[in-house]
Amino acid sequence: MIELVYTINHFACRCLALRFSVPCEKHGVEWDSMSTIFRKSPLPRYYQLKEIMREKIRAGEWKSGDLIPSERELGELYGISRMTARQAITELVNEGLFYREQGRGTFVSQHKITQQLIHLTGFTEDIKARGQHPGTKVLSAVMRPADEKTAERLRIQAGQMIYCLQRLRLADGEPLAIELSQLNFLGCERLLEEDFAQHSLYRTLEAKYGISLVEAEQELEASLAGEDEAHLLNIAIASPVLLTRRTTYADRDTPIEYAKSTYCGSKYTFYTSMKREQLLS
Ligand code: GLP
Repeated sequence: MIELVYTINHFACRCLALRFSVPCEKHGVEWDSMSTIFRKSPLPRYYQLKEIMREKIRAGEWKSGDLIPSERELGELYGISRMTARQAITELVNEGLFYREQGRGTFVSQHKITQQLIHLTGFTEDIKARGQHPGTKVLSAVMRPADEKTAERLRIQAGQMIYCLQRLRLADGEPLAIELSQLNFLGCERLLEEDFAQHSLYRTLEAKYGISLVEAEQELEASLAGEDEAHLLNIAIASPVLLTRRTTYADRDTPIEYAKSTYCGSKYTFYTSMKREQLLS
């Protein structure tokens, strides 16, 4: 134990101390399950380490700009290989929680939220994955006739009544995005009774309405904040914003939601990974 503590103190400074409890009766502390890699767990070790590191950010123990321990240090602390530690770090870099600096190490990201363009996730999931608390202010929730564009996306007739939900989305109380979700499915008017200030839309659709969200198409565009957007997002008028238009499909290729969102440009990163096809020569 003394050795481990020494290792931690050794790379102190702005370096992060890995908080962990020890199974030592003498010192009266117990194992902290969030700081332990369970060898017999069905969960892969890299995944367990990812969750441990995520928890450190969530708990505020690791803060923006902090240097995280190296692969070797993590390997020694958790009794795992450097490769395993590398995989966990790389995935959290890809998710935007960490960033690497050549020759300096890996750091906890500043303020940017990363939205993965690989998995279909909702706002609540993205913010929780980053270790922050999602928040929502419902701006309006009404049934109204679909306009031409929305009707085309939802594959319905223009003028058909659809459910429209406008929300201000926050992370740790800070406004990040304004979202207009427009939904069509049989009985969608029941959504008027839901409390979306408290509950996630995706979760509600899946858990309460039995709708499986399968895939989505999304467009991304740069723009400048207008007066209303700037006011809601608490940014200066004409600040850069990112506009997204997403059509989300349920089973059998049925469009369920057409959503238009405006994200603060300075607080969001959209991440995607690409593979080059093997071209035939
Ligand atoms: C993203 C999408 C929206 C979707 C929302 C669901 O932000 N751009 O189209 O409505 O996630 O988020 P939640 O499940 O947190 O309500």
